[in-house]
Amino acid sequence: MKKVEKIKIVAIYGSPRRKGNTATLLKKAVEGARDSGAQVEEIFLRDLKMSPCLEIFGCTKSGECRLKDDFQKARDQILASHGLMLASPVFFYTVSAHTKILMDRFQSLWVKKYWIDKTPLNNPKITRKGLFISVGATKGKKLFDGILLSMRYFFDTFDMKLWKALLYRGLDFEGDVLKYPEYLDEAYEAGREYVTVLTNP
Ligand SMILES: Cc1cc2nc3c(=O)[nH]c(=O)nc-3n(C[C@H](O)[C@H](O)[C@H](O)COP(=O)(O)O)c2cc1C
Repeated sequence: MKKVEKIKIVAIYGSPRRKGNTATLLKKAVEGARDSGAQVEEIFLRDLKMSPCLEIFGCTKSGECRLKDDFQKARDQILASHGLMLASPVFFYTVSAHTKILMDRFQSLWVKKYWIDKTPLNNPKITRKGLFISVGATKGKKLFDGILLSMRYFFDTFDMKLWKALLYRGLDFEGDVLKYPEYLDEAYEAGREYVTVLTNP
């Protein structure tokens, strides 16, 4: 009988708040994914020691970042996974600083992919898929425009397409999301559905 490989997902908490709105939603998605049989590793960016990119381009030789800190472990976990669930609040129309530091450190991989390995742009073979969760306090139509654009290009670095984005407006204080059980249900269901999608790419 063919052995079915367990789906491995990395869940990244990008907010400085441990129990904030995005963290609560991501926890639900993690719960859904685990209930569907996936193995989920959680990374809380606020607990990592990670320098911002210093733009020294030590990565141009091999694609390896010269700065040695918690980035390497997080990168390797992401690269070894079938899928990534990432949650960040909107901070000034983009991601949190914690999330942005991780994204910028992935420039080393971007350099490897496009400068060293000369991978063509818009590779049609991309099958990996990612889930993104975000919230903002305000309700403007363009609230998520910037963050979604950043996320698409970030995911592309490790050959991932944005499969689903759960975006919620009008949530500001810690615990605000608890007033909307339908958002929590949606996150849970997204976690479940995500495993199905990753199992049948
Ligand atoms: C530094 C900072 C910048 C923010 N910028 C925005 C913003 O540009 N637009 C917005 O709607 N909300 C903004 N907010 C509000 C947060 O998006 C909101 O409080 C959100 O619920 C925080 O999510 P969390 O609990 O997961 O951290 C900002 C909050 C902070 C602390």
